[in-house]
Amino acid sequence: MPVTQADFTLDSQACIGCGLCAGDCLPGALHMQDGRPVLAAPERCMRCLHCLAVCPVGAVSMLGHSPQASQPLTGWPTPDSLEQLIKGRRSARQYRQENVAPPLLRRLLDVADHAPTGVCARQLHVAVIDDMAVLAALRGEVYTRLEALTTQGQLPDNPRIHYFAAAARLWKEGNDMIFRSAPHAVIVSNAKDAPCKEQDPLIYLSYFELMAQSLGLGTVWCGLLYWVLQLMPDLVPRLGIPDSHEVGYAMLFGYPALQYQRTVERGPADIHRVVWS
Ligand SMILES: Cc1cc2nc3c(=O)[nH]c(=O)nc-3n(C[C@H](O)[C@H](O)[C@H](O)COP(=O)(O)O)c2cc1C
Repeated sequence: MPVTQADFTLDSQACIGCGLCAGDCLPGALHMQDGRPVLAAPERCMRCLHCLAVCPVGAVSMLGHSPQASQPLTGWPTPDSLEQLIKGRRSARQYRQENVAPPLLRRLLDVADHAPTGVCARQLHVAVIDDMAVLAALRGEVYTRLEALTTQGQLPDNPRIHYFAAAARLWKEGNDMIFRSAPHAVIVSNAKDAPCKEQDPLIYLSYFELMAQSLGLGTVWCGLLYWVLQLMPDLVPRLGIPDSHEVGYAMLFGYPALQYQRTVERGPADIHRVVWS
């Protein structure tokens, strides 16, 4: 749907004509005319909603979003709390065997949806396995097929073969190397023509992971599931992922069965300081 002038609403009583909205409109869709912002070039709008977010008096509504439905940015996480979250986040590989409560999951998904995408393209497709019975069915099928491929010597001859062979062997011993016995998975894909096709899903999952862990959930990036989807591409449409999309990455999550107690201090980060001459 193209953006039209009707998508921009100004509360002209409230507007103080400060011009911050037009000044922060990166593509130059908003112009100041007679001391008031107008959506003069709607075709340029990139739907970033900076105009709504920056207005000091809440006079701008855009694309169905209103300042009344927005959260005032008053309580920012402290650097200390964010530092603890980033340092304390660990990969969870032990999970309670129960579904995450739907309202908690809904909150997580709604927050992760705010992750930035290149050029604000927002073309991600987020496939969520929110029912542990569904993940159990997928798990069963993947291991059955992996075992058959291993037995028939049909695994592709690349370095991944060792991981797949180990996963098939460990599964027979009751160890779920691919899905880590997690109850849930999220598989993020992006439109094949998205400007930042590879980056957007990874950024989404990074935000998803931090929010999940702040909500008391465990997460683990799942490169093995990503590889499985390349090995068994017929699974991709069955996950509801559109043909026009390419799988970006996968993450497992659920209530963790154990808690980590402390950070592991890694010391000063090794960085290269650029000097220009
Ligand atoms: C891109 C990526 C792929 C990963 N794939 C897997 C995976 O398939 N299975 C797994 O158990 N852990 C996986 N991990 C988790 C890493 O092994 C883990 O981040 C690393 O061991 C450090 O542990 P930490 O996350 O607790 O800090 C992956 C991590 C990343 C960033």
